[in-house]
Amino acid sequence: MPQATSLPGTTDRRLAALLTLLSENATIVISGARIAREIGVSRSTVWRWAERLRELGVRVKGQPHSGYFLEKVPDILTPDLVRKRLKGSLFGKHVYHFFKTDSTNRVAMELGYAEAPEGAVVLAEEQTAGRGRAGRTWHSERGAGLYVTLLLRPRLSPVQAPLLTMLAGLSAHTAVQVQTGLAAELKWPNDLLLNGKKIGGILTEMHAEPNAVRFVIIGIGINVNQEKFPGELAATATSLRNETGKFHPRLEFLVRLLSQFESDYNRFLREGAPYVVQRFELVSSFANGKRVRVDTGMETYQGITAGLSPEGLLIVKKDDGAVVTVISGDVSEVR
Ligand code: BTN
Repeated sequence: MPQATSLPGTTDRRLAALLTLLSENATIVISGARIAREIGVSRSTVWRWAERLRELGVRVKGQPHSGYFLEKVPDILTPDLVRKRLKGSLFGKHVYHFFKTDSTNRVAMELGYAEAPEGAVVLAEEQTAGRGRAGRTWHSERGAGLYVTLLLRPRLSPVQAPLLTMLAGLSAHTAVQVQTGLAAELKWPNDLLLNGKKIGGILTEMHAEPNAVRFVIIGIGINVNQEKFPGELAATATSLRNETGKFHPRLEFLVRLLSQFESDYNRFLREGAPYVVQRFELVSSFANGKRVRVDTGMETYQGITAGLSPEGLLIVKKDDGAVVTVISGDVSEVR
C-alpha cells in the first residue's frame, strides 16, 4: 500500500507537524531551534518550510534568529489535527492530505487499487481537476471548500452501491443542519441545495466484480466559505458562508460530516436499503410530489415524482401517464 509519505504530492509529515506546532501555539513565537528539535529536522529546513508555507498562503511570520509564529491560525485541514479529532473513528487512521492535487477521487481510486484499507480519507485544500457528475468539473477554490474522498470496502453487490451515494447525501444534509441550523434541500440522488442553489455534491465511483464490490470511493464537495463563484456558477452555486453570513471552520464541518457518515454507514450495513430509502423519502422534498424535468442523457421528459423504489431509484409519473424508474440522470425542479 502506498504510505502517506510515498504517495506523490501528499503533504510531508514533517511539514504538517510544523503547521500543527505553529497552529497549536498561534501568536506565540517559537524558536527555530525548538521547532527543529521537535519535528526532527535542521534549522535551515525549518526556514525553507516556513517559506513554503508562506507560498501556500499560510501567514507565517518571523525568521530563524527571532523564531516563528502564525499571524492568524489558517483554516487548513492539517492531517495531524484531522487524525486527532477523528481518533478512534473509522476515518481517523489513514488521512492523506494534499495542498494541491488534481482530484481527491483520482487519488482515492489509486489507493483503492493499491489495497489501502477501508476508512482511508483523501483531503485537498485545492483541486485542479475536481470531478463532478456526468463528466462535469467541480470548482475547487483553494481553502474555501471541502474536497474529501472516502475509501470503503463494504460487502455489497454493485447494484447496492448507489445507496451509499444517497447515504452520504443524508449525512451531509445532517452536518449542514447541525453546522448552520439550515435545512438544505436534498435532491435525488445527491445534490444539496440552499435557496435553490447548489452547496454540495457527491461523486461515487467503484471497482467491482459482477457480484461483489471490491471498493467504493465517495467524493464529497461542499461549498463552505466561498464568497464568489466564477462565470455561470455565480447563478447556480452558493456556500454556507453566503447563506449564513458567517465563516465556518472547515475542520469542524469535516469532523461533523465524517462522524455522521460513520454512524449512518454502520446503520446501513446493519439494516440495509430500507434505512436509506425511508430516511431519504422523509428528508428529500424531491422524492414525492415534485414536478421535475429528467434528463437521462438519452432523453428528456417531465413528470411528478412518486417516491423511491426499494433499491433507492426515483419513480416518476410522466405527463403521458407512464410510470418510470430513473436509474441515473439529472433531475431538476420545474416551477
Ligand atoms: C457533483 O457533480 O455534484 C459531484 C461533485 C463531487 C465533487 C467532489 S470534491 C471531492 C471529490 N473529488 C473530486 O474530484 N470530486 C469529488
